[in-house]
Amino acid sequence: MTGFALWFTGLSGAGKSTISELIYERLKATGHKVELLDGDEVRTHLSKGLGFSKEDRDTNIRRIGFVCELLVRNGVIAITAAISPYRDVRDELRAKIPNFVEVHVDCPIKVLAARDVKGLYKKALAGELGHFTGISDPYEPPLNPEVRIDSSSETPQQSADRIWSKLEAMGLL
Ligand code: ADX
Repeated sequence: MTGFALWFTGLSGAGKSTISELIYERLKATGHKVELLDGDEVRTHLSKGLGFSKEDRDTNIRRIGFVCELLVRNGVIAITAAISPYRDVRDELRAKIPNFVEVHVDCPIKVLAARDVKGLYKKALAGELGHFTGISDPYEPPLNPEVRIDSSSETPQQSADRIWSKLEAMGLL
C-alpha cells in the first residue's frame, strides 16, 4: 500500500479535526493502515509543555512532521490536524515527506468568532489572549494546497468527500 500524508492546516475551529476524523474512519473501514495526529492531542504528550510562540509552534509542527514521515515511509497513511500556521515549515515538510497532500480548511474569522466552541475567539478579540492565530498571531494560508475547503459553505461530509475524490484522482487511493 502507498503511504501518504494528508496535512490539514487552518485556523482553530475551522473544522480540521471533524473533517480529518471522517476521512480517518472511512480509511479504517476500507481496510487502510492509517493514523491520525491531532494538534490538541499531540500537545498532551509528544509536544507537552510547548506554547504558541513561533518557535514553539515550529517545534510542534516539526515533531508532527517527523512522526508523519516515519509512518508514510512504512506505507501508512498519516493524517495531521494542527493549525500549522507558518508556510515555511509546511513547505519544509512537503519537501521531506513523500506524497504530501495539503488541505487548507478555510473559514471567515467572523464565522469562527460566532461559533467559538472553545470561547477562545471571544478572549482573543477582547485582548485577553495573546498570540491567538488569526487575531493576535499570524496565519499564512497555503498558496497551492491540493485541496481548499471553505467550511462555512459546505458540510464536513461534503468536504471529506471532495478530499476523497482528490486522493483518488491523484492515484493515492
Ligand atoms: S499549532 O500552531 O502549533 O499548529 P495546534 O494545532 O497544535 O497549533 O494547537 C491549536 C489549539 O490550541 C487550538 O485549537 C486551541 O484549542 C488551542 N490554543 C490555545 N491557545 C492558542 C493560541 N494562542 N493560538 C492558537 N491556538 C491556541
